[in-house]
Amino acid sequence: MRLDKYLAQTTGLSRKDVKRQIHAGLVNINNHPEKNSGRHVTDEDQVTLDGNPLSRPRPCYLMLHKPDGYVCSNDDPTHVTALTLIDFPSPERLIIAGRLDLDTTGLLLITDDGQWSHRITSPRHKLPKRYRVFLDEPLREDAENLIQQGILLRNEAKRTKPASLERITDTEVLLTLTEGRYHQVKRMFAALNNRVIALHREQIGDITLDDSLASGEYRDLTDEEIASVFKEKKQS
Ligand code: URA
Repeated sequence: MRLDKYLAQTTGLSRKDVKRQIHAGLVNINNHPEKNSGRHVTDEDQVTLDGNPLSRPRPCYLMLHKPDGYVCSNDDPTHVTALTLIDFPSPERLIIAGRLDLDTTGLLLITDDGQWSHRITSPRHKLPKRYRVFLDEPLREDAENLIQQGILLRNEAKRTKPASLERITDTEVLLTLTEGRYHQVKRMFAALNNRVIALHREQIGDITLDDSLASGEYRDLTDEEIASVFKEKKQS
């Protein structure tokens, strides 16, 4: 992350005031004065302002509108990772809470808080995830019933947990799952003799992808969105 952004985040000063402090020679990095506001800062750097050490910014909680073609991992030999879209001092510390396939778009939650991420991904908490699914063929008549009962996926012994399906048209549906098996949505529709041609995640728990975020854009979560993950849901 750039030094000016780091200072703005850790002190709450405006970008203009931050620049003034840097140009006045009040900022040191690792005991050396630094006047370049674009200098890259990592978590390992010790930054002081007027002799006062600055602590790391508060934990980070973000929603990203994931584009098609970005892989959900910290590094990948062939594909560009979704984390390259995030400006963060130590990107290797970021965790993607619930990965999406390379060609799936939509809501990605990203954090450096392991406990928070675990709450989202742990099957025990059954946080619902809603997907908009576009299908190759018209959906069969009995799909709602079959999905509600649970589907036996290829090479698996246990049926999927009951899920809810809302038919928008014969080839567009909303599917809400409370578990996350490997390629689950695509495999569920394959088991119904269909094929997913586009998949977009819209919601995780109470957190909905912000309409104002274009593909590739991200924003901080609100305090309410962050806390919503810990809310106990009444069992129905
Ligand atoms: N299910 C899938 O098949 N792919 C995803 O990316 C997410 C859920």
